[in-house]
Amino acid sequence: MCGIIGYVGGRDVPSVLLGGLWRLEYRGYDSSGIAVISNGELIVRKVPGKLSELEELIKRKPVHGTIGVGHTRWATHGLPQENNTHPLLDCNEEMALVVNGIIENYVALKDELEGKGHIFRSLTDSEVIVHLIEEYLKKGLAEAVKLTVRRLNGNFAFAVISAGERNRLVCARHDAPLICCYNSKEAAVASDISGVVSIFDEVIHIPNDSIVVLGRGKCTITNFQGKEIKVPAQKVSIEVGDIDKGHFPHFMAKEIFEQPKVLHNIVSERIIDSRIHPGDELGLSNDELKKVSRIVIQACGTSWHAGLVGKYLIEKFARIHTEVDISSEFRYRDAVLDSDTLVMAISQSGETADTIAGLREAKVKFLKVLSLVNVVQSSIHRESDGIIEILAGPEIGVASTKAYTAEIVNLYFFALYIGLLRGFVNKAELTKHFTALKKVPVQVEQILQLDAQIKEIAEIFCDSRDFLFLGRGLNYATALEGALKLKEISYINATGYAAGEMKHGPIALIDSKMPIVCINPRSSVYEKMLNNIQEVITRKGIPICIVTRGDRRTRTVSKHSILIPECLEYVSPILSVVPLQLLAYHIATLKGLDVDRPRNLAKSVTVE
Ligand code: AGP
Repeated sequence: MCGIIGYVGGRDVPSVLLGGLWRLEYRGYDSSGIAVISNGELIVRKVPGKLSELEELIKRKPVHGTIGVGHTRWATHGLPQENNTHPLLDCNEEMALVVNGIIENYVALKDELEGKGHIFRSLTDSEVIVHLIEEYLKKGLAEAVKLTVRRLNGNFAFAVISAGERNRLVCARHDAPLICCYNSKEAAVASDISGVVSIFDEVIHIPNDSIVVLGRGKCTITNFQGKEIKVPAQKVSIEVGDIDKGHFPHFMAKEIFEQPKVLHNIVSERIIDSRIHPGDELGLSNDELKKVSRIVIQACGTSWHAGLVGKYLIEKFARIHTEVDISSEFRYRDAVLDSDTLVMAISQSGETADTIAGLREAKVKFLKVLSLVNVVQSSIHRESDGIIEILAGPEIGVASTKAYTAEIVNLYFFALYIGLLRGFVNKAELTKHFTALKKVPVQVEQILQLDAQIKEIAEIFCDSRDFLFLGRGLNYATALEGALKLKEISYINATGYAAGEMKHGPIALIDSKMPIVCINPRSSVYEKMLNNIQEVITRKGIPICIVTRGDRRTRTVSKHSILIPECLEYVSPILSVVPLQLLAYHIATLKGLDVDRPRNLAKSVTVE
């Protein structure tokens, strides 16, 4: 999704804007640009390409000033070409606007504005905003923005500067993320804190449906009706190092190898004095949790896969009927949700539009929403009745890795916590699970040491056109996740399937060229999965098997075996996915692809 940055202050504005855009580029983009007010004149530099090209352009044609805005565009309306690249200008080229979001009523607004003589330069939906502001500009920039936002349908976060009001940034948000920071010398606005983390140590999470007027030592926040809102600043919870690759070639590699540390931190936070500590903002009392008779989990992508694991764990330990929905389906299916249903949202970014909409669908039905989020103060965090912070730390790589295993571990603890409350888990069982979970960080570390072996397997199969991933039970989700990891960064057609379902169709795909990843750790479905592997081999498929150390039976039939440590069945989705993360990573890098910024994808899908 698009990245927005704005700055006013004494630093070199193009450097601040570019530095911020580099830190926001993980959000996904195809074009980029900045606008700076220099001696009262608006100067624009933009390219229908990557930030490196924008940087080159600014080197060739330097610009200086004290205020500016910048943007990385993930195209929704209008091809990635210069005229559609932000910043977008008004007719008189006095204002520059940068936007993240989609204006759903832009066609009608564009007709109205063109009827009034406005000249549009782009095919974007967003350009209607700057022309609307221009319409009302006589009333001052802030008032013009207030009158503009009332006309917009859709979701948006934007920042605008005007040559006529040199030291003020005006921004607004509705259902798209935006933060701001300020002190006596400077101020900034960005899509998320990573854009400005190197400058400020306090951040203001701009409330939904707010307008902010920012200047040196100035930050006035009002709602869309003009009423002033006081919003306390929070300490910035991340450091530059958190959003830096360090010695790794890619963020994805760093985040895969961070998992032992992340998982150790989670287990330490969740087990305190031999008791489960589900977090400080659960938002629901134990009595309320005991009354829950049904749980509906709604999420997207990798988070949805974590939800599938969560279903197994919650039903196993807490004996509560649990459904898992893809958010984009849940939000429109008018689900039957009665008063003792708990809706859960799972989201790393906390800004996924469909998941936010699913959350709101539940709240419209007066249901409590408990969410697992990684980004604190995100929209989902703020709009949920309670949250479990997944504690994965900032995840920059578009392909989610550490957040996935962190989500599963947190769901594991949550399932045990409710199981204890409801009397389905006793102390002895709890001790068994604690022992198993405390081993996980070291076990993941051991699996990471198989990196060279996994890279060798990647070298054999990196030119394959299709992959099939098969799993059963808890590891059906692992099959889905492994396939998603591979497809989203290597662009290879990879399908995850329930192994028991293979004979109902996918078996027709199998031939001597197709690698089939079979996830078969020791489990209650081990024998069944072994049969499926045999079926694969009978059709000359090439099995790549994830197996438990000491499992000779699978190894004798599998051409390529990746061994994971012995563990409880419930822990196996955490361990089994790590080799698949590495396999996808190595195949994509062997193909020379942009692992951290795969084509067409964004880290946070803030539009539906
Ligand atoms: C996962 O690797 C993808 N980047 C994508 O499927 C992602 O999991 C999905 O968009 C949900 O994101 P969220 O967890 O931030 O809501």
